Amino acid sequence: MRVLLIGFGPVGRAFAGLIEERRAMLRARYGLDLELAAIASSSAAWLRDPRAGSPGADALRGAASPAELVGRIEPWNGADALDSVDADVLVEATSGGGDSGEPAAGHVRAALSRRMHVVAASKGAFVWHYRELRDLARRSNVELRIGAATGAALPTIDTARYGLAGAEIERIEGILNGTSNYILTRMREGGTYADALRDAQGRGVAEADPRTDVEGTDTATKLVLLANALFDAGLTLADVPTTGITQLAPDDLARAVERGERIRLLGTLEGGTGAWRARVEPVPLGADHPLARVDGLEKGITYQTDTMARVTVIGGRSDPNGAAGALLRDIVNLASG
Ligand code: HSE
Repeated sequence: MRVLLIGFGPVGRAFAGLIEERRAMLRARYGLDLELAAIASSSAAWLRDPRAGSPGADALRGAASPAELVGRIEPWNGADALDSVDADVLVEATSGGGDSGEPAAGHVRAALSRRMHVVAASKGAFVWHYRELRDLARRSNVELRIGAATGAALPTIDTARYGLAGAEIERIEGILNGTSNYILTRMREGGTYADALRDAQGRGVAEADPRTDVEGTDTATKLVLLANALFDAGLTLADVPTTGITQLAPDDLARAVERGERIRLLGTLEGGTGAWRARVEPVPLGADHPLARVDGLEKGITYQTDTMARVTVIGGRSDPNGAAGALLRDIVNLASG
């Protein structure tokens, strides 16, 4: 399986390094021969040149641009690479696209039209165009997987699709943003908002524009992706009333602790078939709520179902390595059918 990676930010670099170093393990464990065929950023592309040997996982993780790698280098962007590289799966890991989903949507459309599978960590294309892209994948008889964009190492979509298959999901609650959860945890422990945010940025967890994290947009985005991927709910960001954590004071958190509660930035999806409603807001959770104990950079999601009652998943690494692991998970699962 030949992989074309578009996007060479922290997640793209971590993914490139990971699949390069796991090649033998993937072959032995899954019979999967996964080869990174090419990497394209906005201005340069690297193509594997068998005569040049492997660039090595460390070089892939450490390069600032594909142009720094040993191999064939072209002055291309992602769209050019899609025209020129023969690959089986596109890994879409570009950033941005918040206001239109581009350029990722163009990459995904082009790949699906060429009957390539698509595994994505970028979100914008699917916030804006999920239904169109899913239908295109179906017509092309290939897979579109967006688990790495929807909580990444926290298995949100897979838990619902596989673990809860056959049940009716009545309600979803999620702590879906590591940065804001980390800030709330640190503030509760006496730290400052600014220090905690700086720390989350230093660990590569916060978005390039951290307002997306703290104002709740990242959580709302993941809720929209979940609702549309799982229930074809047709939600957009405009349908999600969103309040972030920026107005919370340390006193608010301390008073909640006195009441035996924890304040969490919670995304909620409820209403059921044809009537899904989503919202994002800070919510005090009592000690008996499974998400009350999700601290620091961890995330968590709770599904309320009819036949299986309440199911909660907690954890998963909230940094570029976790997102890279999630991309690899989605490729392994699609290759295993
Ligand atoms: N910035 C996000 C977070 C990670 O803090 O969880 C990417 O979705």
